[in-house]
Amino acid sequence: MSFIWGSMRATASPETATPGALATFLGRCADMGCSQIDLADIYGNGHSEALVGEALSSSAELRDRFSLIAKSAVVFASEGNGATAHHYRNDAQHLEDSLSTSLRRLRTEAVDIFLVHRPDYLLNFDELATALERMVQSGKVRQVGVSNFPCERLKTLGSHLSLPIAHHQLEFSVLETSCLDNGLLDDAQSAKRAVSAWSPLGGGRFFDPGFAPADRVRTVLEQIADDGSEDGIAGAALAWVGHHPSAPVPILGGTQIERMERQVAKMTATRFDNESWYAVLEASRNQPVP
Ligand SMILES: NC(=O)c1ccc[n+]([C@@H]2O[C@H](COP(=O)([O-])OP(=O)(O)OC[C@H]3O[C@@H](n4cnc5c(N)ncnc54)[C@H](OP(=O)(O)O)[C@@H]3O)[C@@H](O)[C@H]2O)c1
Repeated sequence: MSFIWGSMRATASPETATPGALATFLGRCADMGCSQIDLADIYGNGHSEALVGEALSSSAELRDRFSLIAKSAVVFASEGNGATAHHYRNDAQHLEDSLSTSLRRLRTEAVDIFLVHRPDYLLNFDELATALERMVQSGKVRQVGVSNFPCERLKTLGSHLSLPIAHHQLEFSVLETSCLDNGLLDDAQSAKRAVSAWSPLGGGRFFDPGFAPADRVRTVLEQIADDGSEDGIAGAALAWVGHHPSAPVPILGGTQIERMERQVAKMTATRFDNESWYAVLEASRNQPVP
């Protein structure tokens, strides 16, 4: 079981906030078997993409170890972009302009995967499908996918697209389990769509003392983990995500490499059987399965 590294918090930590430090950090991620970096135009207000671009351009060998996942669609209200309300844009102009900016910041001709970050309530499916097809035809994108799409909208987009929707990025963790019931993981299996799980440690809430859902889950995981240390329990929480047959890959957002190395080693060492996987689910939901 491997992981994707997520760059959302890259600008906030000394281990990742300068190109030199980030290059070292990414080299150690690659040594752990990570070969994909998750990005978005909004992370660090564009600075995360620029940081990753500069870090990877320092070494052709490092660059070759990674494929890149780009995302666009979310627009925050800010004076910098003139937007007065937080909103989503799936129109061709926005996505194509944003992709060009991302490629420039990332110092690359193409990204491996482009994801529509969130579904726009006002999206025109024909227009979105045509924009995604054009990205691939132009050679700027190798595969397309989505993030946070509900099942029905995913299917509707698929019916308009002449390309496969190769990837779905969704929230999944011991603290957020709705994709087990809303059909998205079943859909991924039947469409042979890759799944990645964002905030697999609840964005850090898993470690919040006194946060009741985390406390309940941690008590169960302590019995299953490779060892009962903080990193052992975190590794088990990540392994729980990967136990699903749709093979979700966790997107780790950590920025402390030594801690991540310990967590990933424990993730790899932890094995679930289906019964213990259910025990974690019941603890998360605080109710027995019917
Ligand atoms: N598609 C979407 O809508 C969407 C939404 C959110 C995120 N994402 C992607 O998913 C990635 C991961 O999200 P995330 O950062 O929320 O994931 P996460 O891996 O669940 O959380 C990372 C956070 O947990 C903290 N942490 C890890 N171990 C800890 C410990 N033992 N004690 C205390 N804190 C600990 C990290 O701190 P340190 O920084 O100190 O290591 C970091 O702040 C993002 O980078 C982004 O690429 C996508």
